[in-house]
Order: sequence, then C-alpha cells, then structure tokens
Amino acid sequence: MCGIFGVVNDKAATETLLKGLSALEYRGYDSAGIATLTEGELDCRRAPGKLINLEQVIEALPLEGQTGIAHTRWATHGQPNEANAHPHLSLNVAVVHNGIIENADELREVLSASGVCFLSDTDTEVLPHLIANYLSAEVCPALAIQTALREVKGSFALGILIKGMEDQIIATRRGSPLVVGFNSESAFIASDMVAASGMADEILYLEEDDIAIVKAHDVVIYDAQGELVERKKVTVDHDQFVATKEGYDHYMLKEIHEQPNALQRTWNGFSSTSLNQIEEIDFANIDRLQIVACGTSFYAGLVAKYWFERMADLIVEVDLASEFRYREPPMPKKGGCLFISQSGETADTLAALRFAQSKHQYCLSVVNVPNSSIARESDYVYRTLCGPEIGVASTKAFTSQLAVLFGLVKKAAAERQAGKGILSELGKHSEGDVISRVRSALMNDEKRHAIERAARIFENATSAIFLGRGQCYPIALEGALKLKEISYIHAEGYAAGELKHGPIALIDEGMPVVVVAPYDRLFEKVVSNLQEVRARGAKVLLISDKLGCEMCKDYADQFIEMPTLHEVLAPFIYSIAVQLLAYYTAVQRGKDVDQPRNLAKSVTVE
Ligand code: M6R
Repeated sequence: MCGIFGVVNDKAATETLLKGLSALEYRGYDSAGIATLTEGELDCRRAPGKLINLEQVIEALPLEGQTGIAHTRWATHGQPNEANAHPHLSLNVAVVHNGIIENADELREVLSASGVCFLSDTDTEVLPHLIANYLSAEVCPALAIQTALREVKGSFALGILIKGMEDQIIATRRGSPLVVGFNSESAFIASDMVAASGMADEILYLEEDDIAIVKAHDVVIYDAQGELVERKKVTVDHDQFVATKEGYDHYMLKEIHEQPNALQRTWNGFSSTSLNQIEEIDFANIDRLQIVACGTSFYAGLVAKYWFERMADLIVEVDLASEFRYREPPMPKKGGCLFISQSGETADTLAALRFAQSKHQYCLSVVNVPNSSIARESDYVYRTLCGPEIGVASTKAFTSQLAVLFGLVKKAAAERQAGKGILSELGKHSEGDVISRVRSALMNDEKRHAIERAARIFENATSAIFLGRGQCYPIALEGALKLKEISYIHAEGYAAGELKHGPIALIDEGMPVVVVAPYDRLFEKVVSNLQEVRARGAKVLLISDKLGCEMCKDYADQFIEMPTLHEVLAPFIYSIAVQLLAYYTAVQRGKDVDQPRNLAKSVTVE
C-alpha cells in the first residue's frame, strides 16, 4: 500500500531517493518523507500530500547524507498530515514501513509507560522506539531488530537507519513485499521491482522474516531463525520494467493503448510455471473451480465464470477475497482454486490463497508481477504479460487477465471434452480477431472522439448506472468501478434484468444510464430494460456494435459503436469502451486520472 525505498551510496542520496519515490508514488500519495544519515546523525524531511510537496521542502532545506530511506504513504492509521508521514524516529532509529502493526495499541501503552512520548497517530511509530530498546553494544543490530520484531503482530516491510551506522540500511519483511537491488556503485531497497529496476542491475527478494544488512557493495542476510543465508540474485531485464508515459498525457491512456500488444504477448506466452514439483492441473479431474480476487480482478473472474460454464462445462464459484477468507467455506478434496491479481500482493487475495492451501486445494494464480507473493506461493502461475501497470485504475491488466482466463477455458474445454460447438463457432483465429478489433477500436480517431463526446453525458451527473447481461454484466460492473474511481461520480453496475427488482427506483429525469449490449442472443432483453429506464427519464448511452446501434436508433440518446465480434469475446472489446469513457470523463472533470484520491495501486493491507 505504501512505497518504501532506500539507498546506500558513496554519493549524495537525496536525488536517488526522490527518483525511487517517484517510481513508487502510485502505491500511495498521502504524504512522503526521507531520512538520511549525515556524519552519523539522523536527519529527516517530511511533507503531506504528493511527492512534489516533499521536493519543495527539500529544495528549501536540503538534506545531506549518502545513506537514506524514503517513504510514500497511503494512510491507514491517522490522517494524511505531516506528523503521520514516515519516516518515524526515536533518538537513534529511523523507520519507514509498509503494512500494518496489529498490536500497535498494546505496544504503545507499554512504551508510553516507560516514558516514550509519541508524536503521531500511526501504528508505525512504535517501531523505532521498540527497536531502540533492543539495540545494545553487544548484539549485532540486525539480530537485535529481529528479536524486537518478535513482539510485533501484523505485516511489514521495513527500512531502518541506525544512528552512527552510516554505511548501511537494515531491511526486513513479514507479509509485505521488499526487494534489495544492486549496481556497481550502490545498493537499494524497494517495495517493488519497478522502482528498483530503474537503477539496479541485479535484484534479490527477501523471504518472510529475513533481515538484511544492506551495504553499498554487499549484503548480509539472516533468515527467520537468525541463521546466515544467501538469497539468489536475478538480473534485471530493464526493458520489461520501463514505466514512462511515452508521450501520452496519462499512464492510464498509455496503458489503454498498450492493450493490443499486451494481449498478443500474453497469448503468445500462455504457459504456466511452478516453483514446486506439483503436476499441472487436469480440469477433467475437478468438479468445480473456485475463483477468488478483488476489484477489477474479481470482475475478470466473473467473466471467466460465464466462459468456463458455457465452454468447458465446469461449475465455477467466484468470491471476493475479503469475504472468502473469513467465510471458511467447505472445500472439496482435491478442489481447484484460481486466484487473480495484477499486483500479486493484494493482502486479502494472498490470505485466501493461504487458506485454500491449508485445505489442500490445487492453487492456480493469474498475476502480472513476477515473483510477487501470490506468484511465489501458488502451485501454478499464469502470467499476464502486459508490463508494469502504473495507473491506479486497472486497464491493460484486466484485458490481459481475460486473455489468460480465455486460454485456461480452452484448456479446460479440451480436457473435459466440452464446448466443441461454441469453439468451432469461434474458429481458430479468435485471439487474432480480438487483437485486431481491439487495435482498430483504439486506432480509429473518429471512434475515440465519439467516446470522448459521449463522456459529456456525465457532465452534470452525480450518479450513473451501468447495465449489462451475460458476459457483459461484469463489464457493466467494471465500467461503473472505473467511472467512480477516477471521476468520483457515484456509479453502480447492475445485471440489466435485475433493475426492476429495486434499482429502477433510482432513475429520475436526466440520469445517465450506460447500456453495454452487443447484438447477441440477449440483446432484445437488454433493449426492453433500456426502454424501461428511458421511459422513466433516463438519458441512455448505448454501447453496442453496428447492428445493435441500428436496431436501437430510436431508443437511445447517444451511441458508441464498437467493432463486431463473437459474443463470447465481447468482454475484450467492450472493456475498451468503458475504460475510455471513464478516462475522458475524469479528464473533462479535471481529476487526477493516474492517482485518484484515497486510492493506491496495490492493497497490501486488509
Ligand atoms: O492487484 P490486484 O489485481 O489484486 O488488485 C485488485 C484491486 O485492488 C484492483 O483491481 C482495483 O480494484 C483497481 N483499482 C481497479 O481499477
């Protein structure tokens, strides 16, 4: 949720720290801060709000030092103000933290009783004080910190500076990601590979409760038992982690346009990897599949349910990870579970995976970030090869997830000898058809301008409804999520047929209703629902294909015409429409498209 970064150098650290923070800002942007060691002493600058505010503070009051830690925050405990910004300090320890300390209140009480005076409302502030209590001349500081952290419950990735120890950062993690990177001159710590890869040539991933003493030219790592260990270094593929806007106004727009290539790469590279020796899943041997995910990834799972059931004759349950993990559902022997996550670090999805594993389920995952926790802990991993997604609103990751899921559905259909009719209707070139239609939708200036104009439907709106049926029902949900997260318009997605069971009461004069409806076997039913809302004063925007738009020319107020594609594949193409619609709405409203308020890219807390 937050981003942490650190550097140990033979040169000034501040510029590198700010660069690292800028690559991590998508993880949180409520406040930012940096601490360095200068002539053995700790020094610190912090500012509320975006990184630019911290840059201004540092410009006015420069920060010396060659070793430093930095943080960009997504607030959990306490308001996003300067006092709550990281790093947090005791007299001789500075800490940056990503995660949540669950027993912070208890620790705070004990520390307060011993005379500690707290300056923030954060859970993190207990850490520098707790660690300070364990440091002594006799014990290696890393092992003292490890002992201190045995008192801590919760999840964390930490970067720690100790007064007087100018040549090192101590780094550790439990339940939150952290990498250590190196080049010929410096060492880094970072919450993710994207931030480190701009600077490091090699990277290693810390394991749970590892504690690392990171110096410019070497690293010493103790495992959870305090034994010295080595962790494998991997070479960074710089091209894979390029994260720039490449001339687009926003990352989101760039990522929307990357979808044809992302789909191509994902399908070309469709294969699974496994870190353990478990045999690959045979869908013929399972009776049902449990899919678990959050947010947009959950909607990808919902699309997959329609596909698996129709094409592979396989029963699928789809659950939100935050519900699934506590519901403790009974799980069949040798059941199959599929976890979908762009980041591979979403705390609820990871916890759900661990729960399923404790029930001896066969655990597959679909992830975008290689070596993420979900990727490492699954039995089999399928990668979406869409490259880093920086915009907080997920776009190319969603369609790439659909691409992997479609591949899995075809595998399941073959193994279960199902779906022959529909697969032959789709033909051998279905993936190529999707890519060419998505490309033509994005390359066609006239079409894009039509979507930009259509976005005016939300001009004075405070609320909107998205409707869809069948495989386009999840796209309606996704359209509503996209709109609310970047333009802050209240929007809800409904299965079109469900509208009359309550939500239709919301419709009043001029309310925008977006209907996602390719001309398919359910089209006429959606048109009835469209007429029901229009009769009650709604302003209807129909997203359909040529035939659908023609059939409804008298029933809708505005149209977005998308290329025609087999109905099974429609989610790919209609995703593009709802993404662009949300994008242009947010731009027209002057909102911060890539860093919407209150959100962060990767949700590593419950
Ligand atoms: O990294 P994940 O796919 O596990 O993330 C899940 C959700 O947090 C994510 O999809 C979120 O809903 C996006 N902001 C949606 O655009």
